[in-house]
Amino acid sequence: MAILVTGGAGYIGSHTVVEFLAKGEEVIVLDNLQKGHREAVKSGMFYEGDIRDDQLLTKVFSEHNVEAVIHFAADSLVGESVENPLKYYDNNVITAQNLLAGMVKHGVKNIVFSSTAATYGEPESIPIRETDRKEPTNPYGETKLAIEKMLKWCDHAYGLKHVALRYFNAAGAHIDGQIGEDHQPESHLIPIILQVALGQREQLAVFGDDYPTVDGTCVRDYIHVTDLANAHWLALQKLRSTGESAVYNLGNGEGFSVKQVVEKAREVTGHPIPVKIAPRRAGDPAVLIASSERAQRELGWKPQYNGLGQIIQTAWNWHSNHPKGYAK
Ligand code: UFG
Repeated sequence: MAILVTGGAGYIGSHTVVEFLAKGEEVIVLDNLQKGHREAVKSGMFYEGDIRDDQLLTKVFSEHNVEAVIHFAADSLVGESVENPLKYYDNNVITAQNLLAGMVKHGVKNIVFSSTAATYGEPESIPIRETDRKEPTNPYGETKLAIEKMLKWCDHAYGLKHVALRYFNAAGAHIDGQIGEDHQPESHLIPIILQVALGQREQLAVFGDDYPTVDGTCVRDYIHVTDLANAHWLALQKLRSTGESAVYNLGNGEGFSVKQVVEKAREVTGHPIPVKIAPRRAGDPAVLIASSERAQRELGWKPQYNGLGQIIQTAWNWHSNHPKGYAK
Protein backbone atom coordinates (compact mmCIF):
# COMPACT_ATOMS: atom_id res chain seq x y z
CA MET A 1 0.00 0.00 0.00
CA ALA A 2 1.28 3.46 -0.83
CA ILE A 3 1.25 6.79 0.98
CA LEU A 4 0.48 9.82 -1.20
CA VAL A 5 2.25 12.99 -0.04
CA THR A 6 0.86 16.19 -1.57
CA GLY A 7 3.34 19.06 -1.37
CA GLY A 8 6.09 16.52 -0.78
CA ALA A 9 8.66 18.73 -2.51
CA GLY A 10 8.09 21.56 -0.03
CA TYR A 11 9.94 22.26 3.19
CA ILE A 12 8.06 20.13 5.73
CA GLY A 13 6.79 17.72 3.05
CA SER A 14 10.29 16.81 1.82
CA HIS A 15 11.52 16.14 5.36
CA THR A 16 8.48 13.94 5.95
CA VAL A 17 9.12 11.96 2.75
CA VAL A 18 12.67 11.21 3.99
CA GLU A 19 11.35 9.94 7.34
CA PHE A 20 8.62 7.81 5.72
CA LEU A 21 11.10 6.21 3.31
CA ALA A 22 13.42 5.48 6.24
CA LYS A 23 10.53 3.65 7.93
CA GLY A 24 10.11 1.47 4.83
CA GLU A 25 6.89 3.10 3.57
CA GLU A 26 6.10 3.28 -0.15
CA VAL A 27 5.82 6.99 -0.91
CA ILE A 28 4.32 8.84 -3.89
CA VAL A 29 4.86 12.59 -4.09
CA LEU A 30 2.46 14.94 -5.86
CA ASP A 31 3.63 18.55 -6.10
CA ASN A 32 3.00 21.34 -8.61
CA LEU A 33 6.45 22.80 -7.86
CA GLN A 34 5.03 26.30 -7.43
CA LYS A 35 6.83 26.47 -4.09
CA GLY A 36 8.42 23.04 -3.84
CA HIS A 37 11.76 21.92 -5.28
CA ARG A 38 12.17 18.81 -7.39
CA GLU A 39 15.71 18.45 -5.94
CA ALA A 40 14.22 18.09 -2.45
CA VAL A 41 12.69 14.72 -3.34
CA LYS A 42 15.65 12.37 -3.50
CA SER A 43 13.68 9.15 -4.00
CA GLY A 44 10.14 7.85 -4.16
CA MET A 45 7.77 8.22 -7.09
CA PHE A 46 7.13 11.79 -8.23
CA TYR A 47 4.16 13.30 -10.06
CA GLU A 48 4.34 16.95 -11.07
CA GLY A 49 0.89 18.47 -11.03
CA ASP A 50 -1.92 20.11 -9.15
CA ILE A 51 -4.50 18.59 -6.83
CA ARG A 52 -7.12 20.63 -8.69
CA ASP A 53 -6.46 18.39 -11.68
CA ASP A 54 -9.11 15.63 -11.46
CA GLN A 55 -7.58 13.64 -14.30
CA LEU A 56 -4.23 13.56 -12.55
CA LEU A 57 -5.83 12.58 -9.22
CA THR A 58 -7.69 9.76 -10.96
CA LYS A 59 -4.44 8.61 -12.57
CA VAL A 60 -2.55 8.59 -9.24
CA PHE A 61 -5.36 6.87 -7.34
CA SER A 62 -5.84 4.30 -10.13
CA GLU A 63 -2.16 3.50 -10.62
CA HIS A 64 -1.47 2.97 -6.90
CA ASN A 65 -3.17 1.31 -4.02
CA VAL A 66 -3.21 4.43 -1.81
CA GLU A 67 -3.71 3.71 1.87
CA ALA A 68 -3.44 7.29 3.14
CA VAL A 69 -2.77 10.85 2.04
CA ILE A 70 -0.39 13.18 3.88
CA HIS A 71 -1.63 16.58 2.75
CA PHE A 72 0.88 19.45 2.85
CA ALA A 73 0.21 21.26 -0.43
CA ALA A 74 -0.97 24.76 0.52
CA ASP A 75 0.01 28.41 0.82
CA SER A 76 1.24 29.20 4.32
CA LEU A 77 2.28 32.81 4.77
CA VAL A 78 0.45 34.81 7.41
CA GLY A 79 1.34 38.26 6.00
CA GLU A 80 0.55 37.35 2.37
CA SER A 81 -2.80 35.87 3.41
CA VAL A 82 -3.88 39.19 4.95
CA GLU A 83 -3.02 40.98 1.70
CA ASN A 84 -4.54 38.38 -0.61
CA PRO A 85 -7.16 36.30 1.24
CA LEU A 86 -8.85 34.94 -1.90
CA LYS A 87 -5.60 33.32 -2.99
CA TYR A 88 -5.68 31.41 0.31
CA TYR A 89 -9.30 30.32 0.00
CA ASP A 90 -8.55 29.16 -3.54
CA ASN A 91 -5.19 27.44 -2.98
CA ASN A 92 -6.02 25.94 0.40
CA VAL A 93 -9.77 25.35 0.76
CA ILE A 94 -10.80 24.63 -2.83
CA THR A 95 -7.84 22.31 -3.41
CA ALA A 96 -8.50 20.41 -0.15
CA GLN A 97 -12.12 19.98 -1.18
CA ASN A 98 -11.02 18.55 -4.53
CA LEU A 99 -8.52 16.21 -2.89
CA LEU A 100 -11.11 14.95 -0.40
CA ALA A 101 -13.63 14.40 -3.20
CA GLY A 102 -10.98 12.35 -5.02
CA MET A 103 -10.29 10.33 -1.88
CA VAL A 104 -13.99 9.62 -1.35
CA LYS A 105 -14.41 8.63 -5.00
CA HIS A 106 -11.45 6.23 -4.88
CA GLY A 107 -12.18 4.84 -1.42
CA VAL A 108 -9.08 6.25 0.36
CA LYS A 109 -9.99 6.43 4.04
CA ASN A 110 -7.11 8.14 5.87
CA ILE A 111 -5.57 11.61 5.77
CA VAL A 112 -2.94 13.38 7.87
CA PHE A 113 -3.46 17.10 7.45
CA SER A 114 -0.99 20.01 7.90
CA SER A 115 -2.80 22.42 10.15
CA THR A 116 -1.36 25.29 12.11
CA ALA A 117 -1.13 27.25 15.34
CA ALA A 118 -2.60 30.11 13.30
CA THR A 119 -6.02 28.46 13.79
CA TYR A 120 -6.07 29.81 17.36
CA GLY A 121 -5.51 33.53 16.76
CA GLU A 122 -4.75 35.42 19.98
CA PRO A 123 -4.57 32.63 22.56
CA GLU A 124 -6.86 32.68 25.58
CA SER A 125 -4.11 31.10 27.68
CA ILE A 126 -0.53 29.84 27.33
CA PRO A 127 0.41 27.09 26.60
CA ILE A 128 -2.31 26.59 24.01
CA ARG A 129 -4.34 23.38 24.20
CA GLU A 130 -6.22 21.78 21.32
CA THR A 131 -9.59 22.57 22.89
CA ASP A 132 -8.85 26.29 23.31
CA ARG A 133 -10.79 29.02 21.48
CA LYS A 134 -10.05 29.26 17.78
CA GLU A 135 -10.45 32.74 16.30
CA PRO A 136 -7.81 33.16 13.60
CA THR A 137 -6.34 36.64 13.18
CA ASN A 138 -5.44 36.01 9.54
CA PRO A 139 -6.95 34.31 6.47
CA TYR A 140 -4.23 31.64 6.45
CA GLY A 141 -5.35 30.34 9.85
CA GLU A 142 -8.98 30.77 8.82
CA THR A 143 -8.55 28.56 5.73
CA LYS A 144 -6.77 25.83 7.73
CA LEU A 145 -9.58 25.89 10.31
CA ALA A 146 -12.14 25.64 7.50
CA ILE A 147 -10.37 22.53 6.22
CA GLU A 148 -10.28 21.00 9.72
CA LYS A 149 -14.06 21.48 9.83
CA MET A 150 -14.42 19.96 6.36
CA LEU A 151 -12.47 16.94 7.61
CA LYS A 152 -14.76 16.56 10.61
CA TRP A 153 -17.83 16.46 8.38
CA CYS A 154 -16.15 14.09 5.90
CA ASP A 155 -15.52 11.71 8.79
CA HIS A 156 -19.19 11.98 9.77
CA ALA A 157 -20.53 11.50 6.25
CA TYR A 158 -18.04 9.19 4.54
CA GLY A 159 -16.04 7.61 7.37
CA LEU A 160 -12.91 9.38 6.07
CA LYS A 161 -10.56 9.50 9.09
CA HIS A 162 -8.11 12.32 9.73
CA VAL A 163 -5.35 13.44 12.01
CA ALA A 164 -4.89 17.23 11.87
CA LEU A 165 -1.48 18.38 13.10
CA ARG A 166 -1.30 21.99 14.25
CA TYR A 167 2.31 22.97 13.76
CA PHE A 168 3.80 25.81 15.68
CA ASN A 169 6.91 27.35 14.03
CA ALA A 170 8.70 24.80 11.85
CA ALA A 171 12.44 25.46 11.71
CA GLY A 172 15.83 23.83 11.10
CA ALA A 173 16.99 21.45 8.40
CA HIS A 174 17.67 17.74 8.02
CA ILE A 175 20.62 16.59 10.12
CA ASP A 176 22.34 15.03 7.07
CA GLY A 177 22.49 18.47 5.42
CA GLN A 178 20.91 17.29 2.12
CA ILE A 179 17.58 19.11 2.38
CA GLY A 180 16.53 22.30 4.11
CA GLU A 181 14.35 25.41 3.96
CA ASP A 182 14.24 27.34 0.67
CA HIS A 183 11.31 29.69 0.06
CA GLN A 184 11.27 32.20 -2.80
CA PRO A 185 10.93 34.91 -1.63
CA GLU A 186 11.88 34.05 1.95
CA SER A 187 9.71 35.50 4.69
CA HIS A 188 10.40 33.24 7.69
CA LEU A 189 12.39 34.53 10.61
CA ILE A 190 15.23 32.03 10.98
CA PRO A 191 16.19 31.76 7.27
CA ILE A 192 16.11 35.57 6.99
CA ILE A 193 18.37 35.91 10.03
CA LEU A 194 20.78 33.42 8.46
CA GLN A 195 20.72 35.32 5.16
CA VAL A 196 21.82 38.38 7.14
CA ALA A 197 24.60 36.28 8.71
CA LEU A 198 25.69 35.21 5.21
CA GLY A 199 25.81 38.85 4.07
CA GLN A 200 22.89 38.34 1.63
CA ARG A 201 20.81 40.98 3.45
CA GLU A 202 21.98 44.03 5.33
CA GLN A 203 19.84 43.58 8.41
CA LEU A 204 16.76 41.95 9.90
CA ALA A 205 13.60 44.06 10.13
CA VAL A 206 12.00 43.17 13.48
CA PHE A 207 8.24 43.48 12.97
CA GLY A 208 7.16 45.38 16.08
CA ASP A 209 8.76 45.81 19.50
CA ASP A 210 5.66 46.97 21.38
CA TYR A 211 3.93 43.63 21.95
CA PRO A 212 3.08 42.62 25.53
CA THR A 213 6.02 40.19 25.74
CA VAL A 214 9.34 39.92 27.59
CA ASP A 215 11.13 42.38 25.26
CA GLY A 216 8.24 43.68 23.14
CA THR A 217 8.89 41.32 20.18
CA CYS A 218 6.65 38.38 19.18
CA VAL A 219 7.18 35.06 20.93
CA ARG A 220 6.99 31.79 19.00
CA ASP A 221 7.49 28.07 19.71
CA TYR A 222 10.13 26.78 17.27
CA ILE A 223 9.98 23.08 16.46
CA HIS A 224 12.48 21.12 14.38
CA VAL A 225 11.19 20.03 10.98
CA THR A 226 12.34 16.42 11.49
CA ASP A 227 10.38 16.25 14.75
CA LEU A 228 7.33 17.42 12.79
CA ALA A 229 8.07 14.83 10.10
CA ASN A 230 8.14 12.04 12.70
CA ALA A 231 4.81 13.16 14.11
CA HIS A 232 3.24 12.48 10.69
CA TRP A 233 4.43 8.91 10.76
CA LEU A 234 3.12 8.47 14.31
CA ALA A 235 -0.20 10.00 13.20
CA LEU A 236 -0.42 7.40 10.43
CA GLN A 237 0.24 4.64 12.98
CA LYS A 238 -2.60 6.03 15.08
CA LEU A 239 -4.96 5.94 12.09
CA ARG A 240 -3.83 2.40 11.31
CA SER A 241 -4.26 1.13 14.85
CA THR A 242 -7.35 2.99 16.12
CA GLY A 243 -9.08 4.23 12.99
CA GLU A 244 -10.08 7.35 14.92
CA SER A 245 -9.82 10.99 13.90
CA ALA A 246 -7.85 13.38 16.12
CA VAL A 247 -6.18 16.80 16.34
CA TYR A 248 -2.77 17.51 17.86
CA ASN A 249 -0.58 20.54 18.58
CA LEU A 250 3.08 20.11 17.72
CA GLY A 251 5.57 22.39 19.45
CA ASN A 252 8.34 22.29 22.04
CA GLY A 253 6.31 24.12 24.68
CA GLU A 254 8.92 26.86 25.00
CA GLY A 255 8.68 30.34 23.52
CA PHE A 256 11.43 32.61 22.18
CA SER A 257 11.06 36.25 21.23
CA VAL A 258 12.36 37.54 17.90
CA LYS A 259 15.20 39.24 19.75
CA GLN A 260 16.08 36.02 21.61
CA VAL A 261 16.19 34.12 18.32
CA VAL A 262 18.55 36.74 16.88
CA GLU A 263 20.79 36.49 19.94
CA LYS A 264 20.94 32.69 19.68
CA ALA A 265 21.74 32.94 15.95
CA ARG A 266 24.61 35.31 16.74
CA GLU A 267 26.03 32.66 19.10
CA VAL A 268 25.60 29.83 16.57
CA THR A 269 26.94 31.66 13.52
CA GLY A 270 29.49 33.98 15.11
CA HIS A 271 28.11 36.83 12.95
CA PRO A 272 26.83 40.16 14.34
CA ILE A 273 23.35 40.12 12.56
CA PRO A 274 22.27 43.77 12.68
CA VAL A 275 18.56 44.51 13.27
CA LYS A 276 16.24 47.47 12.83
CA ILE A 277 12.82 47.88 14.39
CA ALA A 278 10.02 48.02 11.80
CA PRO A 279 6.22 48.35 12.12
CA ARG A 280 4.14 45.35 13.21
CA ARG A 281 3.18 42.85 10.50
CA ALA A 282 -0.59 42.48 10.07
CA GLY A 283 -2.10 39.28 11.45
CA ASP A 284 0.70 38.43 13.92
CA PRO A 285 -0.45 37.23 17.38
CA ALA A 286 1.90 38.31 20.21
CA VAL A 287 2.60 34.86 21.69
CA LEU A 288 2.10 31.31 20.36
CA ILE A 289 3.34 28.46 22.56
CA ALA A 290 2.02 24.90 22.32
CA SER A 291 0.96 22.39 24.84
CA SER A 292 1.88 19.18 22.98
CA GLU A 293 0.92 17.04 25.93
CA ARG A 294 -1.83 15.29 23.96
CA ALA A 295 0.54 14.33 21.09
CA GLN A 296 3.11 13.07 23.58
CA ARG A 297 0.52 11.01 25.44
CA GLU A 298 -1.53 9.62 22.55
CA LEU A 299 1.05 9.39 19.75
CA GLY A 300 4.13 8.76 21.89
CA TRP A 301 5.70 11.79 20.15
CA LYS A 302 8.81 13.24 21.76
CA PRO A 303 10.75 16.03 20.05
CA GLN A 304 14.44 15.11 19.67
CA TYR A 305 15.76 18.54 18.67
CA ASN A 306 14.37 20.58 21.50
CA GLY A 307 17.03 23.24 21.94
CA LEU A 308 16.76 26.45 19.92
CA GLY A 309 20.57 26.46 19.45
CA GLN A 310 20.43 22.95 17.98
CA ILE A 311 17.55 23.90 15.66
CA ILE A 312 19.39 27.00 14.41
CA GLN A 313 22.62 25.00 14.02
CA THR A 314 20.97 22.52 11.60
CA ALA A 315 19.48 25.43 9.63
CA TRP A 316 22.89 27.15 9.56
CA ASN A 317 24.55 23.95 8.24
CA TRP A 318 22.07 23.92 5.36
CA HIS A 319 22.14 27.65 4.60
CA SER A 320 25.91 28.03 4.78
CA ASN A 321 26.38 25.03 2.44
CA HIS A 322 23.50 26.03 0.13
CA PRO A 323 23.63 29.85 0.11
CA LYS A 324 21.32 29.90 -2.93
CA GLY A 325 19.06 27.16 -1.59
CA TYR A 326 18.32 24.46 -4.17
CA ALA A 327 19.34 26.73 -7.08
CA LYS A 328 22.53 25.55 -8.76
N1 UFG B 1 9.55 38.27 11.87
C1 UFG B 1 10.28 39.44 11.91
N2 UFG B 1 10.99 39.78 10.79
C2 UFG B 1 11.04 39.03 9.67
C3 UFG B 1 10.31 37.82 9.64
C4 UFG B 1 9.58 37.48 10.76
O1 UFG B 1 10.27 40.17 12.90
O2 UFG B 1 11.70 39.43 8.69
C5 UFG B 1 8.77 37.88 13.05
C6 UFG B 1 7.29 37.74 12.72
O3 UFG B 1 6.64 38.99 12.84
C7 UFG B 1 6.85 36.72 13.78
C8 UFG B 1 8.08 35.84 13.99
O4 UFG B 1 9.18 36.59 13.45
O5 UFG B 1 6.57 37.39 14.96
C9 UFG B 1 8.00 34.55 13.24
O6 UFG B 1 7.63 34.84 11.89
P1 UFG B 1 7.60 33.76 10.73
O7 UFG B 1 7.19 34.49 9.49
O8 UFG B 1 8.88 33.02 10.71
O9 UFG B 1 6.49 32.73 11.20
P2 UFG B 1 4.97 32.99 11.60
O10 UFG B 1 4.88 32.91 13.10
O11 UFG B 1 4.39 34.19 10.96
O12 UFG B 1 4.26 31.79 10.91
C10 UFG B 1 4.77 30.48 10.96
C11 UFG B 1 4.37 29.75 9.69
C12 UFG B 1 2.88 29.62 9.64
C13 UFG B 1 2.36 29.02 10.92
C14 UFG B 1 2.85 29.75 12.12
C15 UFG B 1 2.41 29.05 13.38
O13 UFG B 1 4.83 30.46 8.54
O14 UFG B 1 2.56 28.81 8.54
O15 UFG B 1 4.26 29.82 12.09
O16 UFG B 1 2.93 29.66 14.53
F1 UFG B 1 1.03 29.07 10.93
